[in-house]
Amino acid sequence: MSAADPSRPAVSFPDALSSRERWLDPFDWYREMRAESPVRYDADRELWDVFRYEDVKRVLNTDERFSSDPATMPGFEEEIADSEGEPPPVFDTMLFADPPEHNRLRGVVEGFFQPRAIAEQADRIRELTEEYLDDIKGGEVDLVSEVAYPVPVDVIAMMLGVPTDDRAQFKRWSDTLIERPNAKTEAAMEEFQQRQQQTQAEMSQYFAELIEARRAEPQDDLITAIIEAEVDGHRLSEREMVGFCTLLLVAGNITTTNLITNAMRCFTAQPGLLDDLRTGDVKLSTAIEEALRYRSPVQALFRVTTESVELSGQEIPAGEGVVAWLGSANRDGDVFDRADEFVADRRPNQHLSFGHGTHYCLGAPLARLEAEIILSSLLERYEAIEPVEADLQPIRSSFIYGVEEYPIRVIEQ
Ligand code: HEM
Repeated sequence: MSAADPSRPAVSFPDALSSRERWLDPFDWYREMRAESPVRYDADRELWDVFRYEDVKRVLNTDERFSSDPATMPGFEEEIADSEGEPPPVFDTMLFADPPEHNRLRGVVEGFFQPRAIAEQADRIRELTEEYLDDIKGGEVDLVSEVAYPVPVDVIAMMLGVPTDDRAQFKRWSDTLIERPNAKTEAAMEEFQQRQQQTQAEMSQYFAELIEARRAEPQDDLITAIIEAEVDGHRLSEREMVGFCTLLLVAGNITTTNLITNAMRCFTAQPGLLDDLRTGDVKLSTAIEEALRYRSPVQALFRVTTESVELSGQEIPAGEGVVAWLGSANRDGDVFDRADEFVADRRPNQHLSFGHGTHYCLGAPLARLEAEIILSSLLERYEAIEPVEADLQPIRSSFIYGVEEYPIRVIEQ
């Protein structure tokens, strides 16, 4: 899904990254691109790629030229339309809107995500984490399925006011929405599109029922806030409400899951670092920022040019799709010393992992808090955490970066 999703129904993933090894480690390719073709047109995907930090920042900072609304791209609406000819409701959200519409929509839920409001969730997040860790008695476990997925999904489900018991269903939905097509044949594309539409339809129905229930019986949760919100004197439409819920549910889990797993991959790769984090010799929050930079959960964002723009000497015409590679910007040696090293105590660290400008991640304070609580709980509870030798599989997405499973061996204190 998403403007955070360059996965257009056309062939959307660069060939250079299509193998398992390359998508696990795209960083050599990024380096090559930053040096040789920092802004390039890829004729196979009919998209522009932007690799350097300053250019990526400019793309994200200039909404009037780089729109988040895919409807500005000729032909896009027809490509994503469902059987009734409508784009899925998630396209009616802030993620896909430009100012001033964007700011109105974001205002509906912004209060819930301010650092002060988020801090109130800390005890609940800690309790939840402890409950999941209680089930791990030591030995070999998959960090993703045991902790890194269930905690963030339960947290956002509780905030929204949806039953946490449906978490397996949320994962199936989220995995499908961030998926990239695995073949270039027309039949495979069609099958992929059908699966996307089916998922969107299921989510729409699920949320429409919950919205109905909250209308009848309001609660102190995000769904009720979304129902009761007024934007310019009007209530949101049903489609906008459903879109909101879909966006928050999906944006709030997959990304944070991958931050936790990616951070643990970085921490366990450096001898002695887990001890330094336990003693506070290296601050956990600083190391989490570095994990965000070094293995960014969102590698790429999608925009559309509204007019012809020059970027690093290249003229990009109006109406073209542009992929801003955050994962590459975050490794740019012009901005970061030892850019290809994981420097746990790196400061300052101006990574772009939560985006930049208008669409800067609404959930950043929540994601940081969750990562800090979950990772510190793991460090406190287990005296040893080691990766288990395994063939790691990259997430099947064209913009989310992480691994499907991350087996670790833990020994309780
Ligand atoms: C480590 C975890 C996370 C990462 C790396 C991340 C990354 C991002 C990025 C890069 C954007 C910018 C999208 C764009 O410019 O098109 C974004 C936007 C957004 N994120 Fe996150 N996110 C994370 C966690 C969360 C969480 C926990 C939530 C909570 C619900 C959330 C909700 C959102 C929303 C609603 C937007 C759209 C904001 C807007 O359009 O104004 N994210 N995120």
